[in-house]
Amino acid sequence: MRVRDHWLPWLVLTAGVGIFGVLLSSCSTVERTVLAPPEIPGATYAGNKSCAECHANISRQFPGSAHARVHLETAKLAGGTGCESCHGPGSRHIEAGGGRGVFINNPRKDTAACFQCHLETRAEFNLTHHHPVIENRINCAQCHDPHGSDIFKSAGGLAMARLNEGCASCHREQTRPFIFEHEAMREGCTVCHNPHGSINRKMLVENDPNLCLKCHAQVQGMGVGRQQIYIGHADHTAFLRQGTCWSAGCHTAIHGSNVHPRMFY
Ligand code: HEC
Ligand code: HEC
Ligand code: HEC
Ligand code: HEC
Ligand code: HEC
Ligand code: HEC
Ligand code: HEC
Repeated sequence: MRVRDHWLPWLVLTAGVGIFGVLLSSCSTVERTVLAPPEIPGATYAGNKSCAECHANISRQFPGSAHARVHLETAKLAGGTGCESCHGPGSRHIEAGGGRGVFINNPRKDTAACFQCHLETRAEFNLTHHHPVIENRINCAQCHDPHGSDIFKSAGGLAMARLNEGCASCHREQTRPFIFEHEAMREGCTVCHNPHGSINRKMLVENDPNLCLKCHAQVQGMGVGRQQIYIGHADHTAFLRQGTCWSAGCHTAIHGSNVHPRMFY
């Protein structure tokens, strides 16, 4: 898991600033590091069990979540402090009888809680082409379920199909059924797009024909006195000089087509 690699520089950065200690435990390793949980002035940690009294559904799901394994140093508190690692210390929220906006952090509106641990994800959202999360136009919870056992939001189905469904809720144009399907879509949107952000336009993982060549072998052959490049059954030697595989005149209907089997339009 890449997240952990980034906690070390974070430790150096924040050492001595009076930050909470965190004990991160998983099946095989026990690591110690520090980070700053969301602050709620005057509040202290209450433990997961105290949340369960009023938030029964979320508390029932939570043990299955990847985040249930994250604990603050105060993990001795009833049931651990996983909830409060994202929501901040809950004592004042509980004393007030709970309520929206009542002494509790909701990372739906403020992603700072997520970014304090996921530094690499924050860096991705800062790349030139990104989903507008930092701009507050969409949020992590629209793609990730922070409480359930499946962190990738879905309505069921096969693992990769699920990723597409998550994207489909906002991108109908690319996810509707096509007469001529591109089989690549079955692998999931993320074979071609980085879901957070990328240096390439349209958040593509590659900016050039390599995007396609990882699945479509490029075969060298000799034509009449010259080297030829075949992709599929067609000679692509001249085409490849004209731009990307999805440039005008080529496979522009890359997500699928209702009129052309080779997805020209
Ligand atoms: C005494 C009952 C009670 C307890 C205990 C309680 N809550 Fe709440 N909480 C509420 C109520 C009521 C709301 C209002 C929304 C709702 O009805 O679900 C709420 C809302 C929230 C919200 C949404 C806040 C917002 O601004 O959108 C979060 C997050 C939350 N609670 C987390 C926690 C956590 C974490 C704990 C344990 C540390 C906890 N709650 C303990 C009653 C409680
Ligand atoms: C990984 C961070 C994270 C952890 C850990 C976490 N939550 Fe949340 N919680 C969120 C996010 C993000 C939202 C906003 C979700 C949304 O609006 O769809 C949220 C929303 C809520 C809400 C408001 C739900 C509503 O109807 O708007 C409550 C209540 C809540 N969490 C309670 C808890 C409790 C109780 C726990 C522990 C059992 C917990 N959370 C653990 C991130 C977290
Ligand atoms: C206290 C630190 C912490 C906070 C806060 C936190 N995470 Fe995490 N998150 C982790 C750790 C540690 C893991 C890896 C758990 C494991 O090893 O399975 C993880 C796992 C994940 C994964 C799954 C990664 C995978 O490869 O399976 C996603 C997605 C994720 N977090 C999203 C979020 C979102 C969204 C938020 C804010 C609502 C958030 N996290 C807040 C520490 C945190
Ligand atoms: C547009 C949907 C979308 C949004 C918004 C989103 N994610 Fe993700 N995230 C994904 C998908 C899809 C993956 C799986 C990537 C894969 O498997 O290649 C992922 C993977 C992750 C992972 C696992 C490590 C990785 O990069 O593969 C973490 C951690 C994570 N997201 C955290 C976050 C946090 C924190 C936020 C909000 C600040 C967020 N995500 C917002 C779709 C999204
Ligand atoms: C909650 C809604 C939402 C979800 C879910 C979502 N997106 Fe987006 N997506 C957006 C918004 C908003 C934009 C920015 C559009 C703009 O700037 O006009 C965007 C932009 C994009 C773009 C770039 C378009 C451009 O013109 O540059 C791509 C590619 C993309 N999304 C792919 C995905 C993929 C892949 C997934 C699933 C992992 C996904 N989206 C899930 C809302 C969403
Ligand atoms: C085989 C690779 C591939 C796959 C798989 C793929 N895309 Fe794309 N997508 C592209 C390319 C290439 C472009 C850029 C097209 C262009 O520049 O006109 C693009 C562009 C987009 C855009 C921007 C459209 C616009 O009009 O600007 C969105 C949104 C998008 N894709 C969403 C998705 C979603 C959602 C999925 C999964 C259901 C997905 N893509 C799967 C290759 C792919
Ligand atoms: C994840 C793997 C994958 C990626 C990436 C991918 N494809 Fe495909 N593509 C397939 C599969 C599988 C088929 C169906 C079998 C075949 O025709 O080779 C297909 C079929 C096609 C076809 C139809 C071929 C025919 O003769 O019917 C075209 C055209 C095509 N892809 C173009 C592209 C382009 C352009 C890209 C890059 C933007 C791309 N593909 C990226 C897997 C992929």
